[in-house]
Amino acid sequence: MTAVLAKHTLHSGIFHPVLREWQSPNVEITVNNLMYPIFISDAENAKEPINSMPGVYRYGINQLEKMLQPLVAKGLKSVLLFGVTQYLEKDEIGSNADSARNPVIQALPLLREKFPNLLIACDVCLCPYTNHGHCGILNSDGSINNANSIQRIAEVAVSYAKAGAQIVAPSDMLDGRIGAIKLGLAAAGFSNKVAVLSYAVKFASGLYGPFRDASQSAPKFGDRKCYQLPPGSNGLAARAAARDVNEGADMLMVKPGLPYLDVMRQTKDAHPEYPLFVYQVSGEYAMLHHGAQNGAINLENVLNEILLSMRRAGADCIITYFTPLILDMLQRKS
Ligand code: PBG
Ligand code: ZN
Repeated sequence: MTAVLAKHTLHSGIFHPVLREWQSPNVEITVNNLMYPIFISDAENAKEPINSMPGVYRYGINQLEKMLQPLVAKGLKSVLLFGVTQYLEKDEIGSNADSARNPVIQALPLLREKFPNLLIACDVCLCPYTNHGHCGILNSDGSINNANSIQRIAEVAVSYAKAGAQIVAPSDMLDGRIGAIKLGLAAAGFSNKVAVLSYAVKFASGLYGPFRDASQSAPKFGDRKCYQLPPGSNGLAARAAARDVNEGADMLMVKPGLPYLDVMRQTKDAHPEYPLFVYQVSGEYAMLHHGAQNGAINLENVLNEILLSMRRAGADCIITYFTPLILDMLQRKS
């Protein structure tokens, strides 16, 4: 009895912080595991708070350098850019997704110049730029015209590449867009200069609400259930990832994060050769923030626990609005 007890004590391996680190060697959080999403507004000088996301702002192009400088100094390695049009006109095909006045197109050369070591990804979608707010071009009956949509989405991805994007990340979930984008990039000479991060496994989630508020991209009618995945379907999740791998994606993503840890693990196990991203989405950010503000949880403790869960589930990189806070947490730790 005593011999068995002596052999199976777990406490002997965790009484010191360094011992505890050794017990979780593959779930470390470092600056390399973070990507910071940024909303860039067409209002050049704007710094507008988003009510449902405390601490997150829409930045005009003239505010970007000042905002990013301290984060880069703390080790920030990559960002994900979202355009927000508050003044530019929206139309059926999302013409302003890649017009010369698009805020992302305008910000790219500036960011590349000011932050030469920062890796810059751009979300590619039509919903912030279409008058109906859907992620593709529609038929007259309101359904998605898939062929026209992926051609347009590929065109937008190539425009971002030309403006300086190093990663394009299509979030539309339409059929065949990875292939269309890869073809477009190759034809434009970007095969070896631009990576495609596929929002491969993106569920139709109630957790995108604050984002749609931030980017003013909510659909004007209906929902996105005919193109984003049904939350119960790990079968479609597996097929979506396999399909995007087959079409040439460089990196895969699961989105949202916390409710889909099992899908992360399944995706990593099926495609261990591909870097796996997870998007901790706007609703996850809002829940944690409001829970902490109301005294229910300690923000930093719970955030750390959730980040570890994502790393344990197989995520290599976490896209999170908490990045500035996490950079501070890392600095305090070191
Ligand atoms: C647009 C897009 C969405 C998000 C990223 N790109 C919203 C949606 O699909 O409705 C969600 C991100 C978040 O909630 O933080 N296609
Ligand atoms: Zn969209």
